[in-house]
Amino acid sequence: MRIILLISGYLLLVVFPLQLQSASLQPHQLRCEYLPEPLAMEKPHPRLSWQLEATDRGAIQTAYQILVASTPELLGQDRGDLWDSGKVPSNRTNQIHYAGHELAARQDCYWKVRVWGKEGTASSWSEPAYWKMGLLDPADWKAQWIGFDNRRLNKNETFHLPPSPYFRKSWQAKGKVKKAILYSTALGLYEARINGQKVGKDYFAPGWTDYDQRVYYQTYDVTSMLRTGGNAIGFILANGWYAGYTGYAVLVGHPKEYAFYGEVPVFMAQLEIEYENGEREMITSDTDWKVNTGPTLEADLLMGEAYDARLEFEGWDESGYDDASWRNCRRMVGAMGKVESSPGVPVQIVEEIEPIAISEPEKGKYIFDLGTNIAGIVQLKIRGKAGTRVQLRYGEMLHPDGRLMTENLRKARATDTYILKGDSGGESWSPKFTYHGFQYVEVSGLDNPPDKEMITGLVLSSVTPRVGHFESGNDMINQLYRNIVRTQKANYLDVPTDCPQRDERMGWTGDAQIYIRTATYNSDIAAFHQKWLVDLNDAQFGNGAYPNFAPMAFHRPNMTYSPGWMDAGIICTYNIFKVYDDLDLVRKFYSNMQEQLNLYQRKSEQDLLQEGAFDEVDPQGGFGDWLNQDKTATSKILAANIYWLFDLKLMAEMADAIGQRTDAENYRITFRKVQEAFLEKYRTPEGRLQENTQTACVMALDLDVLPTSMKPVVARQLVQLLEENNGYLTTGFLGAKHLLPVLSNAGYRKEALELFTKKGFPSWLYEVVNGATSIWERWDSYTIENGFGGAQNTGMNSFSHYAFGAVAEWMFRHLAGIDMMENGFREIAIRPEPNRALGPVAASYQSINGEIRSAWSLSGNDLKLEVTIPANTTAQVWIPARAVDAVKEGGLPLTEAKGILGQEMDGQLLRVKIGSGTYTFTSASVAGLLPEVAAP
Ligand code: BGC
Repeated sequence: MRIILLISGYLLLVVFPLQLQSASLQPHQLRCEYLPEPLAMEKPHPRLSWQLEATDRGAIQTAYQILVASTPELLGQDRGDLWDSGKVPSNRTNQIHYAGHELAARQDCYWKVRVWGKEGTASSWSEPAYWKMGLLDPADWKAQWIGFDNRRLNKNETFHLPPSPYFRKSWQAKGKVKKAILYSTALGLYEARINGQKVGKDYFAPGWTDYDQRVYYQTYDVTSMLRTGGNAIGFILANGWYAGYTGYAVLVGHPKEYAFYGEVPVFMAQLEIEYENGEREMITSDTDWKVNTGPTLEADLLMGEAYDARLEFEGWDESGYDDASWRNCRRMVGAMGKVESSPGVPVQIVEEIEPIAISEPEKGKYIFDLGTNIAGIVQLKIRGKAGTRVQLRYGEMLHPDGRLMTENLRKARATDTYILKGDSGGESWSPKFTYHGFQYVEVSGLDNPPDKEMITGLVLSSVTPRVGHFESGNDMINQLYRNIVRTQKANYLDVPTDCPQRDERMGWTGDAQIYIRTATYNSDIAAFHQKWLVDLNDAQFGNGAYPNFAPMAFHRPNMTYSPGWMDAGIICTYNIFKVYDDLDLVRKFYSNMQEQLNLYQRKSEQDLLQEGAFDEVDPQGGFGDWLNQDKTATSKILAANIYWLFDLKLMAEMADAIGQRTDAENYRITFRKVQEAFLEKYRTPEGRLQENTQTACVMALDLDVLPTSMKPVVARQLVQLLEENNGYLTTGFLGAKHLLPVLSNAGYRKEALELFTKKGFPSWLYEVVNGATSIWERWDSYTIENGFGGAQNTGMNSFSHYAFGAVAEWMFRHLAGIDMMENGFREIAIRPEPNRALGPVAASYQSINGEIRSAWSLSGNDLKLEVTIPANTTAQVWIPARAVDAVKEGGLPLTEAKGILGQEMDGQLLRVKIGSGTYTFTSASVAGLLPEVAAP
């Protein structure tokens, strides 16, 4: 503990121990089920976690004690009336199940933790944290589903876009409010308002689920929004995913174009108030509420929003508003499935962006350039005559003549309209129930030329806290990384979508499984995926196949599942299990995952998926190595067999982890049988792969389905294939992410770097060189020779598709070298691949066990590697080195440095085992040990 005193201009640093019992360890960042303060926990034994701060190297937690109390006062007195874990000898800091008294609905749980280090002294108690139990029983809901059938009010001739209903209710408070919690949900989208203010900051609540199976409710602490005296609550609804346009249904002439789950949006709200005087009151949605339609003329996720400010009803969401002309609400049929507390994270505005330029390529059509491709909405600030109709259109790119390009939006109208009320002080508006994927906004219908202040970009994304940072010495690589993060933000929007702009925006499973590990390096996606994995399992087909996308509003005949896509159910679960050490998730979906494997098994003949095994699906055989560049694509059935083998491996590991030893053994036996049949069919006499494609080689190697003896041969085959293609890749969705890891792992670090630093077509940097601020769907989304027309399909040409951004996994695991050796980064691997072309490289990753950092630089021939390992973990660090004594830490020989647990040479690398802390290693004269490539 440090106290800094400033006395007459002199800085005095006084260091003294404030708490005598405090050891070097201190718990902080307490969370419950991955969330800082969940307000509606439904799990009876939620998982608690914390991270540790330590002042010394090699800090280890040897025991912990958790207290959970029903009031802050009790907790303050160190009394855990709900749970006192006692001193538990354990080094666990996460995934610890609450094991106290049974928790009732709405129970407040205040908790804290203290830990013991290896010296045996206790830390001080952590700062208190909190969770609250949710409405645990359907009977806890007293509210009714209410709504208003607005269908006949649709005025749009092309689309079904009825106006948004506004609902209100006012009441007199019975005293001073002590606590007020709002539980609310909808079939459709809602915005809740209290006393003139939006409740919370969320967009698109209650989120997208297959509403016939479940819908989530949100919980808001609204204590500070209520007043003594008159109060009012309001709700605005929109069709959203429930009743609006979703995906490409219009494009493909699906028999239903919208309203896949229901025709009319409805909602349910329960405001529970506790007064200072002990009285309790519930304001619930029922037929006493009043409804009207007003300024929101149209509101649709894909089509956009139209708002006539002249129709605003001033003060409608405040008490005292005269709603005599409003209608009474109807009780409506509500959710057919479960109503549960949302386990995920909300969508909110995460960034605001000012335009960098305005142009006017056509008279009266002004194009605002945000300078970067985002998903979100805009805020319009405008002054003008009442009735002026301003139109906003959105695009990711401009045509060469400067006009907005919208061809790639396909049937997403993506147009907002605002009609001014003519406020002389100016007016401001932003949509509530739509979003767009765009960099450019075209504004038309203005009375006067605009200034830049008229438009602000509001970036919408699920709130997944940023945990990763990557920086190299090369601007293009840094831009590539920024583009990856940007594209993740744009597509982690309630579900992991393929793209945010065209008429699709669906939770495509292939994209999700390819990208998930990268996603974990960038953001904390644990809670986000707790939600989406439920969607995925809800949408599983009866035959065991996980679908092409989830939630699954609709699907086309036979376009149902595909190898490489359906494996997401296993691969995504596995990645969350590994990264966050989450066994609950494995247990929860275990039998579903088994069904997926059973499907593969049933489809196989002589232990292999044979040609035709997936003939029933459209495209026939599945999507294969989607968007590949080679003339002869990798066969779909080969890819299917590799995924089956990979899934078997992952399932064996997961089965073991949850104690299903017999299953694990059976999966391993099946693996060996399938592998044998696979080799029989696909191995040449020389031990190469029969299918001579980059994707076949990299999938087989990286998904680890080959025997050890074949690995160097197939790696060599890959290198040859690359050479034959001038060093360029040919891989599509399934192959691309495996290229660099395979090269690195097989010792072709130079070849990996050469491929990564390519700038020609097709390559990761090609789009960067061409001005990309996001990751493009296709290698040829734009080419210098062919413009946007080079893509095989201009409509299917998104500029915000994260799949090829999966290269960031290699950037973290290899270039910076941050990886795990034990689940949840309990033991960490730091194995960077330093080189002169891209250095210095610095990356950090906030794991569930705390912050990991790896930063290397070269000065002359000497390498410097700075490593930070969080308290309570250990790491193995691989440092390019001529010999043990060429490496020093903090200037000292390793034998003298503190925290070093051992070292040995491993080829041209020195492997050093360390405990927690920050270390600065230097390795002298590494020149000949590093791959030499030219900087891009
Ligand atoms: C999506 C992809 C998806 C694919 C299936 C596309 O329309 O945008 O990202 O994986 O369909 O091949």
